[in-house]
Amino acid sequence: MKHFHLLMVALTLGLFLYQAIVVFVGEKANPSPMLRRAMHVCYALLLVSGLYMFTVWYQFMAPWAWAKLVLFIVAVSATAKAARPSTTPAQAKFGMLLATIAYVAILVLAVKKPLGLL
Ligand code: HEM
Repeated sequence: MKHFHLLMVALTLGLFLYQAIVVFVGEKANPSPMLRRAMHVCYALLLVSGLYMFTVWYQFMAPWAWAKLVLFIVAVSATAKAARPSTTPAQAKFGMLLATIAYVAILVLAVKKPLGLL
């Protein structure tokens, strides 16, 4: 399950980086239907695998996993808002910057696991 989670981490971050580059080089922000579908599948599988380990393995006893969950919601919603057709290029860049900060924080939490009880 952990390896599956890590595979989804790699795919999600890869697709996110691609979208962030597209936004920052100034091309249109809203992704193609193909990319949109791929991101939905990756988000869902990443969340399910993370929640499985959090609930079944850790029985909710991992404060860093709560923080990861909240930051993941922040990152996904910032990316989704950046990808709306009605969003201006400046707003899209800010959204992607916010999502990048959230992903970096998630990676720090994933590696350091502060206050982990298990
Ligand atoms: C983009 C989002 C995410 C990234 C980049 C990420 C990254 C990682 C990484 C790198 C690990 C391996 C840690 C290790 O081997 O020590 C991991 C494990 C784990 N992740 Fe995530 N994760 C993400 C989302 C989530 C979410 C949403 C949850 C749900 C709360 C979650 C819960 C967990 C749990 C419980 C583990 C197991 C840790 C262990 O037993 O060592 N992750 N994650």
